[in-house]
Amino acid sequence: MTAISHMGEPAGLMVFRIVCEWLTLAALLLVFGLGAFAATVARTGIEPRVLPQRFSTAIRWAALAQLAILPLVLIAAVACMARVGPYAAITLIPKVLHETHFGHIWIASAPLAALLALTAWSPSRLNRVRAGGLALIGAVLLVLWAASGHAVDYGRAAIAVYFIHEAAAGLWIGSLAGLWLVAGLGDRVVESIAPRTSRVAGWCVATLILSGTYAGYDALGLSLDRLLYSSYGRALIWKMGLFAVVVAIGGYNRCRLIPGLNIASGRQTLLRNVALESVLLVAVLGLAALLGNTPPPR
Ligand code: HEM
Repeated sequence: MTAISHMGEPAGLMVFRIVCEWLTLAALLLVFGLGAFAATVARTGIEPRVLPQRFSTAIRWAALAQLAILPLVLIAAVACMARVGPYAAITLIPKVLHETHFGHIWIASAPLAALLALTAWSPSRLNRVRAGGLALIGAVLLVLWAASGHAVDYGRAAIAVYFIHEAAAGLWIGSLAGLWLVAGLGDRVVESIAPRTSRVAGWCVATLILSGTYAGYDALGLSLDRLLYSSYGRALIWKMGLFAVVVAIGGYNRCRLIPGLNIASGRQTLLRNVALESVLLVAVLGLAALLGNTPPPR
């Protein structure tokens, strides 16, 4: 999340920080993605208010999780900045909030994270307006996330590209998880939503490759050595490798399963694959959080 060099931070502290950012990113991208899914699913003839309860439950707990972990993200970042333990870091928080770019971004994010949780836990049934509101608040939080990452060292265009990258990741995860969560509404629903999910996923994959290559170039330049021998480069290679596995599963779904959705076994295999893709993408996010905390070699 912050462009902090991490010479000398205790490994445990760095792991604590990466896990906090991973969980926050996963929860935030899920709320953003499911919000966008619910706000646009009506195009397939399904009103958001009929979405199953487990859809709203997933949004609510993810929204609460991103809010609950945000203070831990702050403590972990301050501890890494000052190279002190979490408890000592707490006394330094006012100074960091007041004097650092990271602190200013955190102050701007906290009320929005609270608003996101409040909007998700509103007692009324989920409708298109509230779903759109969740996606919008989530998008603003993703812009702030991008603005406090390595992108800040490469300028405004890089911040915009990082945001587009994160939004594509969120829409992909949201579409897959959304399809899986609404599958209980019946075979007709799966038959009408699955092709749309596959199209959205295709556009997200293309956007992730383009924006990821841009961000990768900023961090590595055109140096094969930096890609192969720097810790940043190796983390990126692992991330692209896992990404390739997910794209292969998605490609199989699109070519072999989507054309045969009228067959029950085909639908079941598709939903199993979609669940596997979602889990693997959460793992990719872990590598993204690792990248976000590894100093770029350039
Ligand atoms: C070819 C595929 C991809 C490439 C080349 C790529 C490359 C990158 C690069 C270079 C960064 C910047 C990291 C930094 O220095 O802060 C990044 C960030 C990020 N990537 Fe990817 N990426 C790819 C696919 C994905 C996928 C599939 C996802 C998730 C589903 C994803 C999610 C993210 C997120 C959330 C960040 C922001 C991390 C942070 O700031 O903490 N990327 N990616």
